[in-house]
Amino acid sequence: MKNITIVGTGHVGLVTGVTLAEIGHQVICYDINEHNIAQMKKGISPFYEPDLNDLLKKNLTNNQLFFTNDSKLALADADVIYITVGTPTAQNGSVDLSNIKEAAKTIAENIKKQETIVVTKSTVPVGTNTFIKQLIEENLTNEVMINIVSNPEFLREGSAIYDTFYADRIVIGSDSKEAASIIEEIHRPFGRTIFMTDLLSAEMIKYSSNAFLATKISFINEIANLCENIGANIEDVSLGMGLDSRIGTPFLKAGIGFGGSCFPKDTRGLIEKATEAGQSLDILEAVLKVNKQQKYLLLNKALQRFGNLKDKKIALLGLAFKPNTSDVRGSIAIEIASELTMQGAIVTAYDPLVLEEAKQVLGEKIHYAPSIEEAITNSDMVFIATEWDEFKDFPLEKYEILMNHPIIFDGRNCFSLEMVSKYHIEYYSVGRAILK
Ligand code: UDX
Repeated sequence: MKNITIVGTGHVGLVTGVTLAEIGHQVICYDINEHNIAQMKKGISPFYEPDLNDLLKKNLTNNQLFFTNDSKLALADADVIYITVGTPTAQNGSVDLSNIKEAAKTIAENIKKQETIVVTKSTVPVGTNTFIKQLIEENLTNEVMINIVSNPEFLREGSAIYDTFYADRIVIGSDSKEAASIIEEIHRPFGRTIFMTDLLSAEMIKYSSNAFLATKISFINEIANLCENIGANIEDVSLGMGLDSRIGTPFLKAGIGFGGSCFPKDTRGLIEKATEAGQSLDILEAVLKVNKQQKYLLLNKALQRFGNLKDKKIALLGLAFKPNTSDVRGSIAIEIASELTMQGAIVTAYDPLVLEEAKQVLGEKIHYAPSIEEAITNSDMVFIATEWDEFKDFPLEKYEILMNHPIIFDGRNCFSLEMVSKYHIEYYSVGRAILK
């Protein structure tokens, strides 16, 4: 049995720690954030993720999982260390590797086992693993042999636990066969397909996968705009396309574009890598361009309808970058809120989960409502930016009752046209006919 330590207990780190403990490993999770570690010791996750709190509590009780701020305690006996710290975008648009550098130094200063495997799960630019190995070796205080493995994560926020237990594949990349097979053994109890490759190829698989999924979304969004122009229905078009197993239905949902902390960043990261290598990635440039335009889709529709939005009362439903997450990073809803206020609109937003997080970003620019009802009452129009179930289940007749003239701009196609057509609602969605 190997001693496993997780460095960084954000979304990826905590999910990795909890799931490795659940399949029988002894796991120590280390983080510099004292408040979060104290919470997790009590079985409370610092962020929302379905099923996470239950698994966290269970494995704490079983003594499979430990949390600490003490780097010595966390790393001295570790055989395998997962780096799962955040890699945000720096001001100049590049990937900020300061957390990675800090983690590498902490590891180097504290490890003692003769052979240690460092597994990078954080999304790092292609080629960074070699740099991490060098950095650790330069800062070692004991005589330790380091092997490095890339084990990219493919989990989605909001279904991270499910995605880990039902992963389509686990990618393990290393230039050391021995290290790779130890990591394979650790992951075997998940019972999923394990794909072994070299270090650079593993790093490329991560970026190319995210860039490809982003491409699917921008593709379908462009097709949706064409459908709308010529009178076709994008919901049927994506379904009809997706039934071809070579295409597949996932990630063909048209909307107001992709957000979050991964797709925009990773697509840009791959383009930058290509530029460094003296090559351009024209398709991905177009993917980002289409995504940027798509963000303004609802706003443009509203401008077309009203001429201008000055002093219009707008209810914005959804602030999280997607449903079932408490994350507002890269949220298109947040960008829409800012843009609407710049147009002079009076915005009142409601989100089932992230009102506090959104307040930290948007502050007093907008108003915040405690329920859908309060947000939409007497509003001139409603914008739907996130497809929470609560919005989909909200009775449509309430829009008729609570708004003077119900107008909905739905950026996530939450309702079928057939359903909306039963009510007196002016309805604008993505890639489908307008209902008046
Ligand atoms: C993504 C990848 O899916 C995951 O494999 C990777 O490791 C991390 O990045 P995540 O960002 O959590 O996960 O969310 P995801 O569900 O992939 O959605 C990303 C964005 O694309 C969201 O803004 C979502 O609304 C949008 N999207 C997704 C669409 O617009 N249409 C779709 O069909 C799917």
